[in-house]
Order: sequence, then C-alpha cells, then structure tokens
Amino acid sequence: MSSAKLTVARLKTELALPVICAPMFLISGPDLVVAACKAGIVGSFPLFNRRTTADLIVWFDEIVARLDEARRADPSAYIAPWSANINTHTSNPRFAEDLELIVRYRVPVVISALGSPKRIVEPVHAYGGLVIADAASPALARKAADFGVDGLGLIASGSGGHTGSVSPIAFVREVRRWWDGAIVLGGAIGDAVGIRAAEVLGADLAYMGTRFIPTPESLAEPEHKRMIIESGIDDLIISNALTGATASWLRPSLIAVGLDPKTLKPREDGYRYRGLLGDEPKPWKGIFSAGQGIGSIDRVETVADIVGALKRDYHQRYNGSGA
Ligand SMILES: Cc1cc2nc3c(=O)[nH]c(=O)nc-3n(C[C@H](O)[C@H](O)[C@H](O)COP(=O)(O)O)c2cc1C
Repeated sequence: MSSAKLTVARLKTELALPVICAPMFLISGPDLVVAACKAGIVGSFPLFNRRTTADLIVWFDEIVARLDEARRADPSAYIAPWSANINTHTSNPRFAEDLELIVRYRVPVVISALGSPKRIVEPVHAYGGLVIADAASPALARKAADFGVDGLGLIASGSGGHTGSVSPIAFVREVRRWWDGAIVLGGAIGDAVGIRAAEVLGADLAYMGTRFIPTPESLAEPEHKRMIIESGIDDLIISNALTGATASWLRPSLIAVGLDPKTLKPREDGYRYRGLLGDEPKPWKGIFSAGQGIGSIDRVETVADIVGALKRDYHQRYNGSGA
C-alpha cells in the first residue's frame, strides 16, 4: 500500500467491480483473499480464522507476498487491496494483539464487527488505512458513525452469518438521510443486478459472502458447499439460539447434527463467541450458515470465474459494454 491515505473513492478506482468478498468465519483464508484481490474485488478474512496471533502472522505474510508477486507479474492488472475483519466485541480476548498486527502490516481495509469500532479508528487511520464498521441496525450504524469511521457496512435482512433484520431498501435510505460517508451493503447480493441495486439505493460497495462459499478457494467444508448448491431460500432458518446473535442457518445442517429447528428458542443471553450449545454441536462447524441469495448458486466455481461473469454481466447491463 502506498503511504497516501486510502479513501473509499480511491479504493473504488482500484476495483474491477464495487464488491468486497465478505469476511466469513471458517471460510475465508489466504486462497480466497488472494483470488478475490487478483480478480479485482476486495478480499477479506476474519482474524478469528486463525487460532493465535502467531498463526495469523503466517497468513498475513502469505497474503502480502502473493499479492506483491501478482503485482510484479502484471503491473497493469487490477489487484485489489485486501482486508482484515476484527471482532471488536469486549469478549474478544485477542483484540489488543490482533490490532497490533493490523497496524504492523498496515492492512489497507479494516472491517469491525460485533462491537464498537471506537478502539480501531485512530490506530488504523494513523497508518492511512480505511475503517468500515459493520452494523445490523440504523441505531448501531449511527453509533459507529460517531467514532469517525470511513464506511458503514449495513448488514441487512437476508445476509448470511450473523444477519440483520432491516430491509436493505429501508436500511440504506434511512442511513443516507444523515450519513454521506461510504456505505457497503450486505445481504443476499449474488449477481450483477444485486450489485447495481445496492448502488441505486445509495451504497458504494456490495458485500458478497455466500456467493463465494462454494469455490475451490474457500475453506468451507465440502458438505457446506454441497448444501448451499442444493438448498434454496426456504431452507434457511433465522435464529439466535446458537450464538446469542441472530444468524441465518441452513436447516439441513441443523437436522444433520440432531437439532430440531422447530424447538430452537430465542435467547436473551447476548452474543457469545463460543456459542450457547455447549461443546457440541458447534455453530459454524457442522452447523452451516448462508444468506438468502443462495437460490442462484448451482455449482462450485472459481472466484475468477464468478467475478469474470459478474463483471461481464454488470458492464453489459449498466455500462453498455462487455469489457
Ligand atoms: C458462513 C458465514 C460466516 C460469516 N462470518 C463472518 C465473520 O466472521 N465476520 C463478519 O464480520 N461477518 C461474517 N459473515 C457475514 C459476511 O461478512 C457478510 O456480511 C454476509 O455474508 C453478506 O451476506 P451474504 O452472505 O448474503 O452475501 C459471515 C457470513 C457467512 C455466510
């Protein structure tokens, strides 16, 4: 990354499509990040995908080296900036060490989730990085905005992982009443029309998570990939019973581990990183998540193929060319 401060406007000029391959627990690793960046969209991963900060260093080094190599190999190619997602919830015991690593590696785009971005804004801005704070409601988005973030990641209804309950249409329009910074919209965006719809609403970028789970580059278990290909929107269950935060789960995966989806009760305990079911079964590992854009996914495809097709469709529909 150059020393100039990264802005969302500049970030967009470095992208082939206004898309972030969204961070996903146990799914995103160096292969997915590098493939996304090489395809021209931001590649990201949650820092919790490595057990220790020492393990993370190995991934950081690998990502930086592979992207440098790609830039050297083709200086004219769009190699998008990469991103790390830090859990800023007060229950994250690794927060300080992980933030130190983000600063040391000058991670270009930092996404905060599940807690306030307050503690990351100043250190990330100090080296010229960009902070996007994820929020699942307008009230949480407003709180994050007050801490001086560059962008708000609006996690709308329909999204995979810890999902939102606000309509994407209402969410972006509501936040645009008082926020003129960047908006990233997440929730069931799976194709070029969805990306454009996000922009028409007033978002700058789209998060796409579920779309990239059934790729050779993702770390998803084969069963997770298969379930996404075979399932549809009606196979998803929204519940906070597993982690304390509302998430979108694949019904067949609940049944496969012996849980009866009908008996899942809403919880009042609040979010717990280690989940609420005891040791087994584990949410995210064995019990799988997906967003409501699932219906259009019918096979495993490489990230390059997915982004290539998205680019062609987007440009044919909206820019009048197939470039
Ligand atoms: C399996 C899975 C795991 C996820 N894990 C995380 C995570 O660790 N941190 C995070 O900020 N968001 C996480 N998300 C949410 C995504 O970053 C993104 O907001 C969401 O996938 C967008 O909705 P979509 O899946 O419908 O595209 C996860 C989503 C999925 C599907």
